Amino acid sequence: MNKKTEQTIPQPIYRHDYRQPDYWIDKVELAVDLHDDVTIVRSILQIRRNKDTASEGQPLVLNGEKLTLKEIALNGQPLPESAYQVDREALIIFSVPDHFELSTVVAIKPHENTELVGLYQSNGNYCTQCEAESFRRITYFLDRPDVMATYSTTISADKARYPVLLSNGNRVATGELENNRHWVRWEDPFRKPSYLFALVAGQLVCHHGTFKTMSGREIRLEIWVEPQNIDKCEHALLSLQKAMQWDEQTFGLEYDLDVYMIVAVNDFNMGAMENKGLNVFNSKFVLCRPDTATDDDYEDIEAVIAHEYFHNWTGNRVTCRDWFQLTLKEGLTVYRDQRFTADMTDFALKRIRDVKKLRTLQFAEDQGPMAHPIRPESYIEMNNFYTITVYEKGAEVVRLYETLLGKEGFAKGLARYFEKHDGQAVTCDDFRVAMAEANQIDLTPLDRWYSQAGTPVCEVRGRYDAEQMTYTLQVTQSRAPTPAVQPAFMPCLIPIRVSLFDPKGQALPLQLADENVPIGEERLLSLSETQQQFIFVNIPQEPVLSFLRGFSAPVQVKMQRPREHLAFLMAHDNDSFNRWDAGQILAQELLLNLAQDWAAGRELKLDPLFIQSFGKILTDSRLNPSLKAMAMMLPDEKFLGQQIEPIDVDALYEARSFMTRVLARTFRRELLALYQQYHSTSPYSNSRSAIDARRLKNTVLRHFLTALQDEEVIALIGQQFQHADNMTDMQAALSCLMELEIPEREQALQQFYGRWQHDPLVLDKWFALQASSSLPKTLDRVLSLASHPDFNLRNPNRVRSLIWTFCSLNQVRFHSADGRAYKFLAELVLELDRLNPQLASRLVGAFNQWRRFDKLRRNLMESQLNTIIAQPNLSTDVYEIVSRSLN
Ligand code: ARG
Ligand code: ZN
Repeated sequence: MNKKTEQTIPQPIYRHDYRQPDYWIDKVELAVDLHDDVTIVRSILQIRRNKDTASEGQPLVLNGEKLTLKEIALNGQPLPESAYQVDREALIIFSVPDHFELSTVVAIKPHENTELVGLYQSNGNYCTQCEAESFRRITYFLDRPDVMATYSTTISADKARYPVLLSNGNRVATGELENNRHWVRWEDPFRKPSYLFALVAGQLVCHHGTFKTMSGREIRLEIWVEPQNIDKCEHALLSLQKAMQWDEQTFGLEYDLDVYMIVAVNDFNMGAMENKGLNVFNSKFVLCRPDTATDDDYEDIEAVIAHEYFHNWTGNRVTCRDWFQLTLKEGLTVYRDQRFTADMTDFALKRIRDVKKLRTLQFAEDQGPMAHPIRPESYIEMNNFYTITVYEKGAEVVRLYETLLGKEGFAKGLARYFEKHDGQAVTCDDFRVAMAEANQIDLTPLDRWYSQAGTPVCEVRGRYDAEQMTYTLQVTQSRAPTPAVQPAFMPCLIPIRVSLFDPKGQALPLQLADENVPIGEERLLSLSETQQQFIFVNIPQEPVLSFLRGFSAPVQVKMQRPREHLAFLMAHDNDSFNRWDAGQILAQELLLNLAQDWAAGRELKLDPLFIQSFGKILTDSRLNPSLKAMAMMLPDEKFLGQQIEPIDVDALYEARSFMTRVLARTFRRELLALYQQYHSTSPYSNSRSAIDARRLKNTVLRHFLTALQDEEVIALIGQQFQHADNMTDMQAALSCLMELEIPEREQALQQFYGRWQHDPLVLDKWFALQASSSLPKTLDRVLSLASHPDFNLRNPNRVRSLIWTFCSLNQVRFHSADGRAYKFLAELVLELDRLNPQLASRLVGAFNQWRRFDKLRRNLMESQLNTIIAQPNLSTDVYEIVSRSLN
C-alpha cells in the first residue's frame, strides 16, 4: 500500500519473474512491548545465504514499511550507519556472512494504524493481520511465503488493560514485570511463512471446549471475545468441532498443535485469517445468538470457521511459494468448505447457492476490467487479488479434479499432495502433478484453467434423428468477450454431465456410438476441442436434454430450446441443480423479454407456461422447503443486467416487479397458505426443518406477498416483526417493510434501532436493510445515513453494510440517472483511501461494470473514475482498480 505520487506510477510484478530469495530465515525471536504511545519490536533472526541463488557478499534486502529503526546488530555487533541503508520499503545491509544472526529494534504506532494491516487496535485491543504482505509493518523481514521459519514470540503489556496476550503455537512461559506489566512467551514449533504470524492483546474472555483427535490427543479449543459477547460463542465452538471431525473423516487430516484459538475482532478488512493456531476473525463470522443473527449468519459462521480450520492443512502445512499461487490454498480451501457445508446442510441447496454466487459475481468479474486467471500473471497490489475469481472459480477448478477422478481419486491425490509437500511452499502445478501421480492419469489438460482469464462459453445443439434413432450433441467452446485484452483463447478440458429424458420424465440409458451397451443414465462427456460431437444411439424418441448437470464446470451455456423443454425439466429433472436451473433460465428469458417490452412501451404480459410451472413448484409437497424457496426466487437484477448490453436498470427493475406482482396476485391464496403452514407458533429452534420453514415462509412474504401491499399482508408483516423471537424472522419482516411506503416502516426502524443500537453487528443490519430498499427515496436515505452518528468510516463492517449494500447490491437505486450516487461513492472512496486503502479499493470496484451501461451513466461513471485517478497520493490499491477500469 505504497502511496502513488505523481512522479511514480506503480509498477506491476510478474509471475514469471519469480526467483528464490537470496537468503533464508530459519528462526525468528520476537519481543513485542506494547505501550500507549509506541510499540517496540525486537527481533532476532537466524539467517543463511541461499547457496542456489546468492553469490557471496550479495546484499541482504529485508522488507519493512512504516517502521522506525532504533537499533541494528549483526552477530551481536551494532552495525555502523555506513553498513546499511533504510528507505520507505526496505532495509538493505550491504554485506553479510553466510550464516548470521541479525537483531533489530523498531518502533511502530498501532494506535495510528487505520489501514487495519500489520499490528493495529480494535476497540482498544491489539490484533494483527499479516496476509499478504503486512508482516513487514511489524518488523524487518523477508516477507514472502517461501521463507518459512519457526517463531518464538514474547509479548509484554500492561496487566490490567491487556490481561490476555496471545500468539501462535503453545504458551511456554509467563512472568511479571515492574509497573504493573506482564509478559507471555509463545512458541510455534511448525515452520511457517510470515503471513501466518499473529498477535493479540487485550481484555478478552474465552469460551472454551475440547476436541479429541482421531489419534486420541485432546485439543483445547478457545474462542476469545470481548466480555459482552461471551454468550454468542457456542455456535462457533460447535462449528469448529464439526469441522475438525469432518476433516478427519473425509480426508484423514488431524490437527497438529495442542490448542486452537479464534479471536473475534470488530474491525477487520476481510472475513477471517487462518494464522497458525491463532485465527483472527471478523466478529461477524463468530458471534451469534438466535435473537441477533439470522439462519444465514449461522451458516456463514459455520462455513468460515471451517474454512479457516481447513487452511491448517491446505495453506499452512503446505503453503504457497509466491502470491500468484494464492488459489492453491484458497481455491482448494473454498472447495473443502463447500463440501463441508453440503454435508452439514443439503447438497443441492449448497450447490445452487455457490453457483448463483459464481454466476452473479465471478462471471461479471471475468467480463470486466479485473478479469484475471485464477492464477494471475501480474499484480500491482496483491490485496486486490483476493477475488471471487481466485477463491470461487478456483474452487470450481478444484472441483473439476473431483469430477474427473471421483471422490476417492480426489482423496488419494490430496493424500499424495501432503505426502510430497508437507512443510513446503509450493505451486498450483505441484498440486496438479500430485493429483495426476496418485491417479496415474495425465492432467496437463487442466493447466489452461489456471492460465486463462475469462469464462468459457459452451454452445450446444441437440439434434434427434428419428430414422437412425440417434441423438447428436454438438458442443463448441469459445470465450465470453472480455474488455481487457487477453491472449487468444485456447480450448479447455470441460467435463460435462448430461442426461436425456423421455417425454414421461424417465432418464434414458445412454449408449455412445462407439459403445456396445448403454452405460448408466448420466454420462460425463469430456469436451477438450473447440468443437465436438457426441452421438447417442438407440434413442427411441425425441428426448429432452439435461446439460451440465450439477454445474459440472464453471462455464456459460448457450442453447436454443423450446420453453416447453425448460418447463419439463423444472418438473422432471432428477438433478436438483438442473431442475432449479431450468426454472431460472426460463424466468430469465421471460424477464429479459419483459424488460424489452417495458422499454419499448409495450404492454407487459406473462407467459402462462411460466405461471403454470411456478404454480407446480408452489404446490409440490415433496420439495424440500429451502429448495422450494430457491426455486421460487426470480433471478436478481444484477444477474439479469449481465445478460444484456447496455444494462437498462429501470427496465429490469420494472420487469422483475411486474413478474413478481403477477405471480403474487395469481397465487395469493396458495402463498398465504404456505406462509401460514410454515409460520411456526412454537418457539425458535435451529433444527434443519425449522430453518427450512423460516426460509420458505420468509421468501413467500418478502419476495411475493409484500408486492401485493394489501392490508392483510401488511398486518402479517407487522405481526411477524412484533412477535419474532429470532433475528431471521425479525430481519425478514423489516426488509418487507423497507419496500413499503407506510408509517409502520419508520416506526419499525426506530424500534429496531432503539433495541439494537449497542450491538454493532445488528446495527449493521439496520444500515444494510435501509440501503437495500428499492423505494425511490433510498438514495437520499443513504446519503443521510452516511452522516448518522453511528456511521463510521473506520469500521469496515459498517462501511460495507451501508455503502457496499447500496452501491453494489441495489442496482436500480445506485444507478440513478442523475449521477448523485456515483458522486457520493467517488467522494467516499477518496476519503476512505486516506484511512484504509484496502477497503477503498473494494468499494471503488462498484464502478467496474461502467462500460456496460447506457451512454448517460457511462459518462457519469467515467468522469468520477477520472476524478479519482487524478488525485495525487492515491493508494496503489485504488490506483490499480481504477486504472484497469479506465484502460
Ligand atoms: N486467507 C484469508 C482467508 O481465509 C483471507 C485473507 C485476506 N487477506 C488480504 N490481504 N486480503 O481467506
Ligand atoms: Zn482462505
